[in-house]
Amino acid sequence: MTVRSTSSCSAMTRKRVAVLISGRGSNMAALIEAAKAPGYPAGIALVLSNIADAGGLETARKAGIETAVVDHKSFGKDRAAFDRAMHDVLLAHCIDLVCLAGFMRLLTPQFTALWSERMLNIHPALLPAFKGLDTHKRALEAKAKVHGATVHFVVPEMDAGPIIMQGVVAVRDDDTEAALAARVLKVEHTIYPAALKLVAEGRVSVVNGRCLIDGNAVPDAGSLIPAA
Ligand code: GRF
Repeated sequence: MTVRSTSSCSAMTRKRVAVLISGRGSNMAALIEAAKAPGYPAGIALVLSNIADAGGLETARKAGIETAVVDHKSFGKDRAAFDRAMHDVLLAHCIDLVCLAGFMRLLTPQFTALWSERMLNIHPALLPAFKGLDTHKRALEAKAKVHGATVHFVVPEMDAGPIIMQGVVAVRDDDTEAALAARVLKVEHTIYPAALKLVAEGRVSVVNGRCLIDGNAVPDAGSLIPAA
Protein backbone atom coordinates (compact mmCIF):
# COMPACT_ATOMS: atom_id res chain seq x y z
CA MET A 1 0.00 0.00 0.00
CA THR A 2 1.28 3.49 -0.79
CA VAL A 3 2.77 5.13 2.25
CA ARG A 4 1.12 8.47 2.93
CA SER A 5 2.92 11.27 1.21
CA THR A 6 2.03 14.84 2.03
CA SER A 7 4.48 16.36 -0.44
CA SER A 8 1.78 17.62 -2.82
CA CYS A 9 -0.69 18.50 -0.04
CA SER A 10 -0.18 21.97 1.36
CA ALA A 11 -0.72 22.35 5.10
CA MET A 12 -4.23 23.65 5.77
CA THR A 13 -5.50 25.15 8.97
CA ARG A 14 -8.69 23.12 8.75
CA LYS A 15 -8.29 19.37 8.64
CA ARG A 16 -9.48 17.78 5.42
CA VAL A 17 -12.01 15.08 6.26
CA ALA A 18 -13.34 12.23 4.12
CA VAL A 19 -16.66 10.70 5.17
CA LEU A 20 -17.13 7.07 4.09
CA ILE A 21 -20.72 5.96 3.64
CA SER A 22 -22.72 3.04 2.30
CA GLY A 23 -26.24 4.36 2.76
CA ARG A 24 -28.50 7.30 3.57
CA GLY A 25 -25.74 9.39 5.17
CA SER A 26 -27.58 11.21 7.94
CA ASN A 27 -24.42 11.29 10.07
CA MET A 28 -22.51 12.52 7.04
CA ALA A 29 -25.09 15.32 6.68
CA ALA A 30 -24.65 16.22 10.36
CA LEU A 31 -20.88 16.46 9.86
CA ILE A 32 -21.31 18.60 6.72
CA GLU A 33 -23.66 20.90 8.60
CA ALA A 34 -21.37 21.19 11.64
CA ALA A 35 -18.36 21.94 9.45
CA LYS A 36 -20.11 25.04 8.10
CA ALA A 37 -19.81 26.74 11.48
CA PRO A 38 -17.17 29.44 11.64
CA GLY A 39 -14.22 28.18 13.64
CA TYR A 40 -15.02 24.50 13.13
CA PRO A 41 -11.56 22.93 12.75
CA ALA A 42 -12.39 20.52 9.92
CA GLY A 43 -13.94 20.67 6.48
CA ILE A 44 -15.61 17.82 4.64
CA ALA A 45 -13.42 17.53 1.55
CA LEU A 46 -14.77 14.25 0.21
CA VAL A 47 -17.62 11.78 0.58
CA LEU A 48 -16.57 8.32 -0.55
CA SER A 49 -18.90 5.37 -0.96
CA ASN A 50 -18.57 1.71 -1.90
CA ILE A 51 -22.14 1.85 -3.28
CA ALA A 52 -22.71 3.89 -6.44
CA ASP A 53 -26.33 4.73 -5.59
CA ALA A 54 -25.92 5.33 -1.86
CA GLY A 55 -28.51 7.95 -0.92
CA GLY A 56 -25.95 10.05 0.93
CA LEU A 57 -23.97 10.71 -2.25
CA GLU A 58 -26.78 12.83 -3.67
CA THR A 59 -27.07 14.75 -0.39
CA ALA A 60 -23.32 15.40 -0.48
CA ARG A 61 -23.40 16.57 -4.11
CA LYS A 62 -26.28 18.93 -3.34
CA ALA A 63 -24.17 20.35 -0.53
CA GLY A 64 -21.37 21.00 -3.00
CA ILE A 65 -19.08 18.31 -1.57
CA GLU A 66 -16.88 16.26 -3.86
CA THR A 67 -17.87 12.59 -4.05
CA ALA A 68 -16.17 9.40 -5.18
CA VAL A 69 -17.22 5.77 -5.53
CA VAL A 70 -14.96 2.75 -5.09
CA ASP A 71 -17.24 -0.20 -5.80
CA HIS A 72 -16.17 -3.12 -3.61
CA LYS A 73 -17.83 -5.60 -5.99
CA SER A 74 -15.27 -4.93 -8.70
CA PHE A 75 -12.56 -6.25 -6.33
CA GLY A 76 -14.27 -9.58 -5.67
CA LYS A 77 -12.88 -11.11 -2.48
CA ASP A 78 -9.68 -9.04 -2.61
CA ARG A 79 -10.28 -6.77 0.38
CA ALA A 80 -6.69 -5.54 0.34
CA ALA A 81 -7.03 -4.31 -3.25
CA PHE A 82 -10.31 -2.55 -2.40
CA ASP A 83 -8.69 -0.86 0.61
CA ARG A 84 -5.69 0.15 -1.50
CA ALA A 85 -7.98 1.76 -4.04
CA MET A 86 -9.77 3.68 -1.29
CA HIS A 87 -6.47 4.72 0.24
CA ASP A 88 -5.29 6.07 -3.11
CA VAL A 89 -8.46 8.16 -3.45
CA LEU A 90 -7.96 9.51 0.08
CA LEU A 91 -4.34 10.41 -0.69
CA ALA A 92 -5.33 12.06 -3.96
CA HIS A 93 -7.67 14.33 -1.99
CA CYS A 94 -5.05 15.18 0.66
CA ILE A 95 -7.25 13.76 3.40
CA ASP A 96 -6.14 14.18 7.02
CA LEU A 97 -8.98 12.43 8.86
CA VAL A 98 -11.50 9.75 7.89
CA CYS A 99 -14.99 9.41 9.38
CA LEU A 100 -16.81 6.13 8.84
CA ALA A 101 -20.53 6.88 8.88
CA GLY A 102 -22.58 3.80 8.13
CA PHE A 103 -19.77 2.37 6.00
CA MET A 104 -20.64 -1.31 5.74
CA ARG A 105 -17.32 -2.92 4.79
CA LEU A 106 -14.77 -4.58 7.03
CA LEU A 107 -11.38 -2.95 6.66
CA THR A 108 -8.02 -4.72 6.50
CA PRO A 109 -5.53 -4.28 9.37
CA GLN A 110 -3.14 -2.69 6.85
CA PHE A 111 -5.67 0.01 6.01
CA THR A 112 -6.60 0.66 9.63
CA ALA A 113 -2.87 0.91 10.49
CA LEU A 114 -2.36 3.56 7.80
CA TRP A 115 -5.15 5.63 9.35
CA SER A 116 -4.42 4.78 12.97
CA GLU A 117 -5.80 7.47 15.30
CA ARG A 118 -6.92 9.39 12.20
CA MET A 119 -10.02 7.30 11.40
CA LEU A 120 -13.22 7.54 13.46
CA ASN A 121 -16.37 5.44 13.46
CA ILE A 122 -19.80 5.90 14.94
CA HIS A 123 -21.62 2.89 16.35
CA PRO A 124 -25.25 2.93 17.50
CA ALA A 125 -24.70 1.42 20.95
CA LEU A 126 -22.75 2.06 24.11
CA LEU A 127 -19.63 0.10 23.28
CA PRO A 128 -18.32 -2.33 24.30
CA ALA A 129 -21.96 -3.49 24.57
CA PHE A 130 -23.81 -4.55 21.42
CA LYS A 131 -21.09 -4.62 18.80
CA GLY A 132 -22.27 -5.53 15.30
CA LEU A 133 -25.72 -5.18 13.76
CA ASP A 134 -29.28 -4.78 15.07
CA THR A 135 -28.10 -2.94 18.15
CA HIS A 136 -31.45 -1.38 19.06
CA LYS A 137 -33.34 -4.65 18.78
CA ARG A 138 -30.72 -6.39 20.92
CA ALA A 139 -30.74 -3.61 23.53
CA LEU A 140 -34.52 -3.95 23.82
CA GLU A 141 -34.32 -7.75 24.02
CA ALA A 142 -31.67 -7.46 26.75
CA LYS A 143 -34.00 -5.07 28.63
CA ALA A 144 -31.23 -2.48 28.82
CA LYS A 145 -32.17 0.64 30.78
CA VAL A 146 -29.68 2.83 28.97
CA HIS A 147 -28.51 2.72 25.39
CA GLY A 148 -26.81 5.17 23.07
CA ALA A 149 -24.03 5.73 20.61
CA THR A 150 -20.24 5.73 20.58
CA VAL A 151 -17.60 7.51 18.52
CA HIS A 152 -14.30 5.67 18.59
CA PHE A 153 -11.03 5.40 16.75
CA VAL A 154 -10.98 2.49 14.31
CA VAL A 155 -8.75 -0.51 15.02
CA PRO A 156 -8.65 -3.82 13.14
CA GLU A 157 -11.25 -5.42 15.42
CA MET A 158 -14.79 -4.37 14.44
CA ASP A 159 -16.55 -1.89 16.73
CA ALA A 160 -13.61 -1.77 19.09
CA GLY A 161 -10.97 0.90 19.51
CA PRO A 162 -10.45 3.75 21.95
CA ILE A 163 -13.69 5.56 22.81
CA ILE A 164 -13.68 9.29 22.05
CA MET A 165 -17.25 10.15 23.03
CA GLN A 166 -20.51 8.47 24.02
CA GLY A 167 -24.06 9.75 24.17
CA VAL A 168 -26.71 8.07 26.26
CA VAL A 169 -30.48 7.70 25.97
CA ALA A 170 -32.83 6.18 28.53
CA VAL A 171 -34.66 3.08 27.27
CA ARG A 172 -38.41 3.21 27.92
CA ASP A 173 -40.38 0.12 28.88
CA ASP A 174 -42.72 0.67 25.93
CA ASP A 175 -39.98 1.51 23.43
CA THR A 176 -40.09 0.14 19.91
CA GLU A 177 -36.98 -0.48 17.87
CA ALA A 178 -37.87 2.42 15.58
CA ALA A 179 -38.51 4.86 18.42
CA LEU A 180 -35.29 3.93 20.19
CA ALA A 181 -33.32 4.10 16.94
CA ALA A 182 -34.66 7.58 16.24
CA ARG A 183 -33.62 8.86 19.68
CA VAL A 184 -30.17 7.30 19.36
CA LEU A 185 -29.74 8.75 15.86
CA LYS A 186 -30.40 12.23 17.25
CA VAL A 187 -27.62 11.65 19.74
CA GLU A 188 -25.32 10.39 16.96
CA HIS A 189 -25.83 13.61 15.05
CA THR A 190 -24.65 15.56 18.09
CA ILE A 191 -21.72 13.49 19.28
CA TYR A 192 -20.10 12.77 15.90
CA PRO A 193 -19.48 16.44 15.03
CA ALA A 194 -18.40 17.10 18.63
CA ALA A 195 -15.95 14.19 18.63
CA LEU A 196 -14.53 15.12 15.22
CA LYS A 197 -14.01 18.68 16.48
CA LEU A 198 -11.92 17.42 19.40
CA VAL A 199 -9.82 15.18 17.16
CA ALA A 200 -9.34 17.89 14.52
CA GLU A 201 -8.21 20.29 17.24
CA GLY A 202 -5.58 17.77 18.28
CA ARG A 203 -7.06 17.48 21.75
CA VAL A 204 -7.45 13.69 21.76
CA SER A 205 -4.55 11.39 22.60
CA VAL A 206 -4.51 7.63 23.08
CA VAL A 207 -2.73 6.26 26.12
CA ASN A 208 -2.83 2.55 26.92
CA GLY A 209 -5.75 1.99 24.57
CA ARG A 210 -7.87 4.76 26.09
CA CYS A 211 -8.57 8.23 24.78
CA LEU A 212 -7.65 11.25 26.83
CA ILE A 213 -9.15 14.63 26.02
CA ASP A 214 -6.83 17.50 26.89
CA GLY A 215 -5.00 14.90 28.96
CA ASN A 216 -8.11 13.94 30.99
CA ALA A 217 -10.22 10.79 30.92
CA VAL A 218 -13.27 10.72 28.64
CA PRO A 219 -16.36 11.44 30.84
CA ASP A 220 -17.81 8.22 32.24
CA ALA A 221 -21.26 7.10 31.18
CA GLY A 222 -22.71 7.94 34.62
CA SER A 223 -22.21 11.61 33.95
CA LEU A 224 -23.98 11.33 30.59
CA ILE A 225 -27.26 9.70 31.63
CA PRO A 226 -30.13 12.01 30.71
CA ALA A 227 -32.43 13.29 33.45
CA ALA A 228 -35.57 12.00 31.73
C1 GRF B 1 -25.83 4.86 12.04
O1 GRF B 1 -26.75 4.38 12.98
C2 GRF B 1 -24.42 4.62 12.50
O2 GRF B 1 -24.28 4.65 13.88
C3 GRF B 1 -24.15 3.23 11.99
O3 GRF B 1 -24.80 3.18 10.74
C4 GRF B 1 -25.89 4.10 10.74
C5 GRF B 1 -25.69 4.98 9.56
O4 GRF B 1 -26.76 5.86 9.40
N1 GRF B 1 -22.74 2.96 11.91
P1 GRF B 1 -26.61 7.11 8.47
O5 GRF B 1 -26.24 6.56 7.09
O6 GRF B 1 -25.52 7.98 9.01
O7 GRF B 1 -27.94 7.77 8.47
